This record gives sequence, C-alpha cells and structure tokens, in this order.
Amino acid sequence: MNHFGYKNGTLHAEDVSLTALADWVGTPFYCYSRATLERHYKVFSGALPKDSLVAFSVKANGNLGVLKTLALLGAGADVVSGGEMAKALAAGIPASKIVFSGVGKTKEEMHQALTAGIYQFNVESEPELLALDEVARELNKIAPITLRINPDVDAKTHAKITTGKAETKFGIPFKHARAAYAQAAALHNVEIVGIDVHIGSQLTELEPFEAAFTKVAELAKTLRADGHSITRLDLGGGLGVPYQNNNMPPPDPIAYGKMVARVTGDLECRLIFEPGRLIAANAGVLVSKVLYLKKGDAKTFLILDAGMNDLIRPAMYDAHHEIVAVEEPGPGSERVPYDVVGPVCETSDLFAAGRDLPELNSGDLVAILSAGAYGATMASTYNARPPAPEVLVSGTEWAIVRPRLRHDDLIAQDKIPDWLAG
Ligand code: LLP
Repeated sequence: MNHFGYKNGTLHAEDVSLTALADWVGTPFYCYSRATLERHYKVFSGALPKDSLVAFSVKANGNLGVLKTLALLGAGADVVSGGEMAKALAAGIPASKIVFSGVGKTKEEMHQALTAGIYQFNVESEPELLALDEVARELNKIAPITLRINPDVDAKTHAKITTGKAETKFGIPFKHARAAYAQAAALHNVEIVGIDVHIGSQLTELEPFEAAFTKVAELAKTLRADGHSITRLDLGGGLGVPYQNNNMPPPDPIAYGKMVARVTGDLECRLIFEPGRLIAANAGVLVSKVLYLKKGDAKTFLILDAGMNDLIRPAMYDAHHEIVAVEEPGPGSERVPYDVVGPVCETSDLFAAGRDLPELNSGDLVAILSAGAYGATMASTYNARPPAPEVLVSGTEWAIVRPRLRHDDLIAQDKIPDWLAG
C-alpha cells in the first residue's frame, strides 16, 4: 500500500498535488512519501521476531531526508561504502545500528567504520578478513564480524541482481565456510559474532530465501560445534515488491517473517535484515513532463524530460515501471500505445515500449511509479544532464530534499589544467 492516489482528478503524494509540485519545483523530479516509507518500515519490522535489527539498505535510497525518516523510527543502516556510512551517520542513524557489507571495502573505509564503532562488518573474502584484522590491530580495536556465505542458491530473479549463486562474486563459498571461520578465530583483532547471507534482490518467492536460510541455520550449528560463538544471523535484504498490478504479488512480510522464525527460531540468534527496495520502491515516483509527441513510421514516441540518467532501471534490467498520467483521464477515455522515451542519445533510453496510456500531449505530466528505490541513487549526469531533484512529502507539507543542480554546478566539477588554460 502506498500514499499516491488521485484526488479531485489529480495525482497526489499524500495531500500534495503533483501538478502543483511540478509548478513549484519544475520537472523532472522524484517525489517520496514519508507516510509510505513509515508504513513499509513498520509493516516489515512488525512481521519479524522481536529484537531484530532492520538495517535499511542505503544503496536503495540514500537521501538524507529518507534516511532521517527511517532513523526516527529506529532503523539501522546497511552500507557498502564509506560514503553511505557517512550519510547514514549524518542522518542520525547511530553507528551501533550500522552494518557494513560489500566485496571491496578499502582499508580507509575499514578505518572509518572502526573509528565510528559500527555494529558489524560483513566480511566477504579471506583477504578482506586479513586486511580488517590488520587495520583493527593498528587502531587497537576488535572488529565484530560475520562472514558472508555464498549458499549457491538460485534466487530466481533477474541475472544482474542475483548474488547467491557460486558463480557470482559475492560471499565465501559455502564449502569453505568452516575453514574461513577457523582462520578468523585465529586472528586477534576480529571477533566472530555471526553469519551473513544475501542471495539477491527483487525475489518474488519465499522458497529461495528458505533454502538459503536453512543452509545458514545448519552452518550455525556446525560452527557452534566447532567452538565459534554465533549470536547473530544477518539475513540480508531482497524481498520483492509489486511493480505491476496485474502480476503475482511477491510474498508479504508476514509470510516472510513466519518462515524466518520457523527456520532460525531454535538458534536464539539476534536477526538482522537489510531491506532496501521493500521500504523505498513504492514510496517514490518520478514525475516528468511530456516534451514532444513524435509520430514515427512504426511507432508513436512520447518524449519525456526525464531520461535514463534519472532512472536507469528499464535500460539496465528491462525493468517494468507503471506510468500514469498525473491528470486523471476521464472514464472510458481512449488508450494509445506509446514508446515512452527520454531525451538521452541512446536507444536504450526507453522507459516502456508499446505501453497503452491515455492520450497525452506536449506539456502533460506523467508519473513513473515505484521509483523510490534504485532510482535517484543510480542517477548520473550522462549527457551533462543535471539529475532530477528529490522532494519529500509529509501530509500537506513538502520539502526539496535534494535541489536540482545548475549547469554551473556541473561545470565546477571539472578543472581545466593550467597548461591548457592558455
Ligand atoms: N544487502 C545487500 C548485501 C545487498 O547487496 C542488497 C542489494 C541489499 C541488502 C538490498 O536488497 P533489496 O532489499 O533492495 O532487494 N539496482 C538493482 C538492485 C541491486 C541490489 C543490490 N544489492 C535494481 O534496481 O533492481
């Protein structure tokens, strides 16, 4: 459920008209709903065993306004870079609720995280383990660690967002796990606290989760028998969201929570979750204006002022995003097939091919739905386009939480060397 809907014929975010927002802010822009972020967070955390840590995956949406919204509810953060960690801290998420994942943490990032005193490092390889031990020794600290295990389970999702198969770069192979834990136990500046797993994103079935968590639960018992202290299980993120109304809906958080309790309950571990998309995707839309309607020989193109630099998911993963007119079409109004494209000079700058939409014209506004996760965070300045700004709505209030860059801001990022300046 989300808080975007038509009121008096105009699409609103909570109580704010998107047409009015477009007048105030200009287009394109991202618009997030605070009430939806809160609802998703509460539904998910309420479905989990008590005392679980919900560490929002910052890569899904790193806007400080969004992070602060979640911080106020008690959320932690799952970060994969020093930059994400700095943002989480800046939004008021305490270090004691931050977990650091990722296959390529640098020593500088380890230093930063150890100094901040984060909750845990999810270590993804033996060389990373040795590097972390070394940095912790230099700082005279003990790094709390889990090892991320690659369970070799098929997440049944898009190939580019599956992470739990043996051939992906993520985690330590399941069959090396005992040896890697033995290696970790022999080091003086890391402390084993648990096991970590994350098998992919936009999972639409529970079964792959269950297969992975079952393997993790078995491993926990084996590792305990080997003498390790396993008190936490980090079960990653990945629960999918409905992008299309007519689709089979992904499992709901209640079913997921029950399955987790059944599979891991007897271990009495503290559970950690890293949801990203589930919290943010349907809490955000990308509002864009139709620039031109272009009738080609084979197709009719709706050319928007938002492009793949603002939202790359359709180009990168063939992702489906619903597109709706901001001004509600009248009952029984005709629908026309459009190729909805952006202005970027790439054929892949295509939001939807042959999509039936109400008749639209130059100047009309559309909203690309489910764009709150992996939208703004994956934006770029390709074609020297300032990425869409971000707006957060709360009831009747709204605020620009990331302003639109000006051309001067883009120019200021580059430097002409003295020896070229003439
Ligand atoms: N934890 C780890 C270690 C991850 O790698 C990810 C996502 C998450 C948690 C959060 O997963 P979520 O709950 O959001 O599914 N850009 C792609 C998605 C990439 C996901 C990468 N890792 C997309 O737009 O579909």
